[in-house]
Amino acid sequence: MKLILGIESSCDETGVALYHTERGLLVHTLHSQIAMHNEYGGVVPELASRDHVRYALPLIREVLQQASCTLQDIDAIAFTQGPGLSGALLVGASVACSLAYALSIPTIAVHHLEGHLLSPLLSDPAPEFPFVALLVSGGHTQLMRVDGIGRYTLLGETLDDAAGEAFDKSAKLLGLDYPGGALLAKLAQRGAPGRFKLPRPMLHSGDLDFSFSGLKTAVLLAVQQNAQDEQTRADIAYAAQAAIVDVLVNKSLSALKQTGLKQLVIAGGVGANRELRAQLDQAAQQRDFRVFYPDLEFCTDNGAMIAFAGAMRSKLQTVQRDYRFNVKPRWDLQQLSQAD
Ligand code: KG4
Ligand code: ZN
Repeated sequence: MKLILGIESSCDETGVALYHTERGLLVHTLHSQIAMHNEYGGVVPELASRDHVRYALPLIREVLQQASCTLQDIDAIAFTQGPGLSGALLVGASVACSLAYALSIPTIAVHHLEGHLLSPLLSDPAPEFPFVALLVSGGHTQLMRVDGIGRYTLLGETLDDAAGEAFDKSAKLLGLDYPGGALLAKLAQRGAPGRFKLPRPMLHSGDLDFSFSGLKTAVLLAVQQNAQDEQTRADIAYAAQAAIVDVLVNKSLSALKQTGLKQLVIAGGVGANRELRAQLDQAAQQRDFRVFYPDLEFCTDNGAMIAFAGAMRSKLQTVQRDYRFNVKPRWDLQQLSQAD
């Protein structure tokens, strides 16, 4: 099994990639639906599914062409089986399984978060097992101990909103477009430190869990109680980002201390946040641990991480050849074992 086609369609991005087990990632491409969902202030599932239908096959053609390969060169097709929007997942699963059936090659069902967790292994230098992973996306905030492929132990997670959700909701309150994480970070660059002090929920809870739902209430109050001139908006954005980053950094440091591990991996869309990266880099220098980030293009949803996770899984498990597929909109990463 050498050439794996990966298809990601769990939410609002159609991602397709070709990964070669000896030559590495050959090519990946992405179509983002952000502009389409923007006018609704969030992802509209039915529109997402239809757009995946529109883009899946053209993107597959595109990666094959870019890598100078044909369909016949593909040895297996990896697709995101969950978690995510069921209609969106079904598009990727049905394209993957019908194409694999037509080509008489196996399919590999991939857990979206496993894709994120393993994505730093696509970068150079890559971490070595075991490591602590901070998974921070629009839907998840988890600290995991990763001992190998499929060997994940949950150390802590959010009790309510995810970190990305906290960014997006704060951004929305500041009148920014969806998803607002990156826009809020940009606005925060012009913000002055110290004007607003927002709560850091559960910072001293003694465990590795998170809670971000209180933050949006604090941001809402700050927005309501102050005239919304450009500087004030930037100052609130600064304070919101500072609160989220502070909690993420502190809990990550506690996880390293608790496990005694010396490598921290950041995965998921919020991993693109520059302030988070700057603070972790500084802590890593002071405390003698290494921190790894996926390249920016692999932080947010993409097909490369699915093709790569599929390639890793194909070494561990018997691949599927019966082409009946189901998707798992809710799927606990902890339920994954090495053999799944
Ligand atoms: O991993 P991802 O692409 O999709 C999910 O699986 O959720 O993560 C998307 C999340 C969104 O909440 C987005 O606002 C956030 O990542 N995000 C950021 C930045 N870039 C993306 N949050 C803060 N700063 C950024 N630079
Ligand atoms: Zn994701």
